[in-house]
Amino acid sequence: MTPTAATPPSLPADLVRRGVALRAIRPEDQPVLRDLYGQFRAEEMAFAPWSAAQKAMFLDDQFRLQHHHFVTHHPRADFWLIERAAPPSAPVAVGRLYLDRTTPLWRVLDVGLATAERGRGTGSGLLTWVQNSASAAGADGVDLHVVLTNVRARSLYERLGFAVDGAPVGHHQRMVWRAEPALRGVS
Ligand SMILES: CC(C)(COP(=O)(O)OP(=O)(O)OC[C@H]1O[C@@H](n2cnc3c(N)ncnc32)[C@H](O)[C@@H]1OP(=O)(O)O)[C@@H](O)C(=O)NCCC(=O)NCCS
Repeated sequence: MTPTAATPPSLPADLVRRGVALRAIRPEDQPVLRDLYGQFRAEEMAFAPWSAAQKAMFLDDQFRLQHHHFVTHHPRADFWLIERAAPPSAPVAVGRLYLDRTTPLWRVLDVGLATAERGRGTGSGLLTWVQNSASAAGADGVDLHVVLTNVRARSLYERLGFAVDGAPVGHHQRMVWRAEPALRGVS
């Protein structure tokens, strides 16, 4: 399904303590990733004047096309599943974090959490970790694109120091966080 193979770098202690972990996605994760994708777009889909079957078909298509786009345009990116420990059972998939670390400005291709996982600090914890990791690696910073109507995600990114960069393109707004030059390469 994707080229990601390497073991993800370790997460900060607060996320580890809360049972959050990353692992590279595998071909057999496709159904769970498709389900997560449906959850990311559920609010928007609620307003679409389609039947449940039409919505499911649309989401299947969009999921497939988006995945193809990511792996075609960012073949060396990290495609991580976000898991939460659920002992004594196996960890549960609670989201995805796709990150391209191959360019001077790292790119968060996507971050998304299952509905039940939101609002618990997981997203900000992971994005702060990405920012700190980018700084430590000497990257220029991190960028991402947010859908124009996703006001809540945008306000989270602003709180984390991301700023709007340029005019919107289509339905998306690019946002950039620049690493402090003095801190680059310091871990
Ligand atoms: C955006 C997202 C990754 C943030 O992770 P999180 O763990 O929920 O965020 P945290 O708990 O660390 O921080 C809470 C903030 O996240 C944002 N947030 C919370 N729920 C959200 C939701 N359903 N959609 C978008 N942003 C949300 C808000 O800014 C919130 O602050 P507020 O409660 O003061 O409004 C997560 O909510 C999510 O996956 N949302 C749906 C998919 C999405 O919008 N992805 C972003 C693509 S650019």
